[in-house]
Amino acid sequence: DTLTGPNAYARASETAAYVRSKLPEALQKPKVAIVCGSGLGGLVDTIEAEPKVELAYSTIPNFPQSTVQGHAGNFVFGLIGPQKIPVALLVGRAHFYEGHTMDLVTFATRVCKLLGIGTMIVTNAAGGLNENYEVGDIVCLNDHLNLAGLVGIHPLRGPNIDEFGVRFPPLSDAYDLDMRRRTHKAWKKLGLDQQKRRLHEGVYAFVGGPSYETRAECRMLRILGADVVGMSTVPEIIVARHAGIRVLAFSLVTNKAVLDTGLRGNDDTIQAMSKTELDEHLNKGKANHQEVLEAGREAAKDMQGLVKQILSDLHED
Ligand code: HPA
Repeated sequence: DTLTGPNAYARASETAAYVRSKLPEALQKPKVAIVCGSGLGGLVDTIEAEPKVELAYSTIPNFPQSTVQGHAGNFVFGLIGPQKIPVALLVGRAHFYEGHTMDLVTFATRVCKLLGIGTMIVTNAAGGLNENYEVGDIVCLNDHLNLAGLVGIHPLRGPNIDEFGVRFPPLSDAYDLDMRRRTHKAWKKLGLDQQKRRLHEGVYAFVGGPSYETRAECRMLRILGADVVGMSTVPEIIVARHAGIRVLAFSLVTNKAVLDTGLRGNDDTIQAMSKTELDEHLNKGKANHQEVLEAGREAAKDMQGLVKQILSDLHED
């Protein structure tokens, strides 16, 4: 009774068949799947009211149950934008830090493949490591550092499932160049206030979590070439690429990771500081889940606008 190995294909097929059985004709062939990260589920409210099918993860056979506050779990099918493009939204995801296996973290991605989805847009909330990034900026990912994967915690570990893809899939082209070009075009078209929010391209470092990074870890990740850091996305992207799904991914910078060394306690100026001054220093830039959710809410609208513009342009071509 496992999702690993050969069973994963049978299980994903079973789930895909269940999901399909719940969909009316008009929603049977979703073209694009959109994974909505922390606070980014608002896209759901922008799809057509009819036809629309919302399946709670708890009712879907084999689906992982998400346990984090602020991450509802719904698989939503509907039509989006003026061209009524059929999409599948994954609102809420399973994270590795919740205790799920990598098979479960990436299970929905495989179900998407079996539903015939060819393109996946993955969003997440992330900490900004690049000094040029501000809270609320959007980063179009062009590469990643799979820190867990490099030491063997990898969603493709185990017998290869040939039905999905090859044993040794390349990832050098994981972040689709054409989709990234479309993204920058769409962003220009939207003409958002650049003072308020900028669009970057950058590298995402995947960490296991759930604790946020220490200052030294942030500096390490920066040295390694990461621009943002987060606890999701990379497993899904690897499994999507394994199965030949085209991938586009965005991080919303919800907090700035702290890179400076902080107080070391052996300096006269520190000895002379008042308790209030010390507290202020110690709390500077400390990541917290509340801040992450708030930044998400504010920027979510622009991110949604961007995704819809990309989809709309994609449909036109
Ligand atoms: N680190 C890791 N994951 C995150 C962060 C962070 O600073 N912010 C949002 N998700």
